[in-house]
Amino acid sequence: MSNQLERVKELIDLRVQARLGGGEKAIAKQHEKGKYTARERIAMLLDEGSFEELDMFVKHRCTNFGQEKKTFLGDGVVTGYGTIDGRLVYVFAQDFTVFGGSLSETMALKICKVMDMAMKNGAPCIGLNDSGGARIQEGINALAGYSEIFQRNIMASGVIPQISGIFGPCAGGAVYSPALTDFTLMMEGTSYMFLTGPKVVKTVIGEDVTAEELGGASVHSSKSGVTHFTASTEEEALAIIRKLLSYIPQNNLEEAPLVECNDPIDRLEDSLNEIIPDDPNRPYNMYEVIGAIVDNGEFLEVQRDYARNIIIGFARFNGQSVGVVANQPQVMAGVLDSNASRKGARFVRFCDAFNIPLVTLVDVPGFLPGTGQEYNGVILHGAKLLYAYGEATVPKITVTLRKSYGGSHIVMSCKQLRGDMNYAWPTAEIAVMGASGAVAVLYAKEAKEAADPKAFIAEKEAEYTKLFANPYNAAKYGYIDDVIEPRNTRFRIIRALQQLQTKKLMNPAKKHGNIPL
Ligand code: HXC
Repeated sequence: MSNQLERVKELIDLRVQARLGGGEKAIAKQHEKGKYTARERIAMLLDEGSFEELDMFVKHRCTNFGQEKKTFLGDGVVTGYGTIDGRLVYVFAQDFTVFGGSLSETMALKICKVMDMAMKNGAPCIGLNDSGGARIQEGINALAGYSEIFQRNIMASGVIPQISGIFGPCAGGAVYSPALTDFTLMMEGTSYMFLTGPKVVKTVIGEDVTAEELGGASVHSSKSGVTHFTASTEEEALAIIRKLLSYIPQNNLEEAPLVECNDPIDRLEDSLNEIIPDDPNRPYNMYEVIGAIVDNGEFLEVQRDYARNIIIGFARFNGQSVGVVANQPQVMAGVLDSNASRKGARFVRFCDAFNIPLVTLVDVPGFLPGTGQEYNGVILHGAKLLYAYGEATVPKITVTLRKSYGGSHIVMSCKQLRGDMNYAWPTAEIAVMGASGAVAVLYAKEAKEAADPKAFIAEKEAEYTKLFANPYNAAKYGYIDDVIEPRNTRFRIIRALQQLQTKKLMNPAKKHGNIPL
């Protein structure tokens, strides 16, 4: 064998060795837990054969605790680039088979390298996390490595889409990288995220809690809102990430890909003409409205189980990607509260950062009253949604289906927040407040003195309803651009989106605003 051929063989052998990560035993252990390895995950995530691995020969440099005797090619993370549906993405996947995927100085360098490349080339960066946290033997160098990653997450925010998949442990400060990215997905049953684990919780505050109760997927999808998606299998998780990317552009200077649309743009949806119940206090299901108007009824919902009184997610109109924000009358009558406001605000800002038009479907009775909300800072949280809509320069189309009262009317993308097209159904009620509240304030004294207070109040409520509980009062002033037939909503939104394709709107130059955090 020639010298060169020997060298080539050595390279091939090294590659084989690197691809085994922490070794066959560790891989078997990972599989026993029902988990895939980092390379298997990348293979499922990317288009077949598209992965180009980088830094396969990197080893850690730590000499503490005899670490120099224990090295693995690639050192705990697999990094590189490839394509999803033919579009470039950068990826890093922590390899639990090497020191439990714990973060070393060199691992951080590898991750930072692909993050820098993603920024330079304007492509999404996807991180698949499965790690025991900072590599304990490396001490402060591991912390410095995390900080380098966080700084890049911050600089990339709003420039390239960043997505985090949590496929195992993610604890301590390590949680901050996913938290800084745009979307987080957690595996049900096999992943958890928390700042301090159950043992520390027990020691410090005496609370008994399991890892699942403290930071499992169900906690973060329904209680904290930390995760945007959950999945029961890794295949499903990776498919969600692929699908999510189909709705969003490569970077903040591009538009989302246009998809061929076979759903007729002028499809009339007769059911919408009868969906609003006669009784204003009876709910209907906003998902039915969304499903009826978007292309092929396809909707990728974000944070489905969190603050369910507001619905957010991606859909398409005539192949064009949009962000949908909608009140859900079926949950707490669609009222806005702190959590719903935060959920909506972050989504609106994502869409605006990445040139995705917003379609807002309104049926909101107001903000949730009471000390629970006020003590929790609902003023600030509501202001976040207000700020997000007001600063957004993407095309904004609002359709008011039924209630739109008071502050919540303003917050939900009203005309004066630079709504481009504000439509209302004939069932819309756009006013300062509902009839009963208004009459209680306006006629308190007269009602007391009336011969029949109940009849008096009913009469005044009917008067108020006739005057204000309709769309025409707002339309009279041009605050509503048109009152539309509900079954025609899809077509009207598509026409509006077409019209707004050349929209140009710039906010004043500034370092950055000061959103009420
Ligand atoms: C070095 C680690 C490690 C770590 C795991 N390993 N975590 N090595 N540093 N942080 C190693 C284990 O020693 C073991 O090596 C292998 O990875 C697999 O771990 P197991 O414990 O066998 O796996 P499992 O039973 O599945 O438990 C996983 C685990 C547990 C729950 C993650 O390993 C664990 O609790 N690790 C420590 C977590 C932690 O406290 N991290 C520091 C958090 S503070 P061998 O050789 O036996 O296979 C932090 C600060 C970040 O991260 C701050 C950022 C700003």
